[in-house]
Amino acid sequence: MHKDFEKVLVTKEQISTRITELATAISTDYKDTKPLFVCILKGSIIFYADLIRKMTVPCQLDFIQVSSYGSGTTTGKIKLLKDLDNSIEGRDVIIVEDIVDSGKTLSYLKELLGLRKPNSIKICTLLDKPERREVALEADYCGFVIPNEFVVGYGLDYDENYREFDQIYILKPEVYM
Ligand code: PRP
Repeated sequence: MHKDFEKVLVTKEQISTRITELATAISTDYKDTKPLFVCILKGSIIFYADLIRKMTVPCQLDFIQVSSYGSGTTTGKIKLLKDLDNSIEGRDVIIVEDIVDSGKTLSYLKELLGLRKPNSIKICTLLDKPERREVALEADYCGFVIPNEFVVGYGLDYDENYREFDQIYILKPEVYM
């Protein structure tokens, strides 16, 4: 294990099993539609790529990127860095996220995309850290509810590092303190 990691929180086997379950549930719920999966760059790309490959209904893909500034404060604002390429009017949209923390990112995106007249919007997150929530936000599909620990790997970073690891690890506090 990498020296910066305290322990594995979610193993690759657990991730893989849960993604199959999520994709099965989503495929059932969307069986007569062609959902549009929106990937929130960059943290969710690995989860997204694995999830869509387990879907059994036709899907389409699009990508969006936001950045938060002033994070850690209640006035932290969110800025759109890259918008979707296509219209979502009339579409069934599934926003795919790696982690819901304060809930600000997804609540901003849900409102922004909701103005564009989609038929529906749902949220699928791999991880949910409810202890950190600052705004009311609930995912429709969730992989794992986790404790309030600093997690990295499987797309999640600290200072842009550790995204490439295939499991989710708790980072040692001395690395980020
Ligand atoms: C992380 C994560 C979510 C967001 C969750 O993104 O990927 O998008 O923060 O936090 P919130 O619920 O408090 O809004 P980050 O801004 O670190 O960008 P990244 O995806 O490129 O790592």
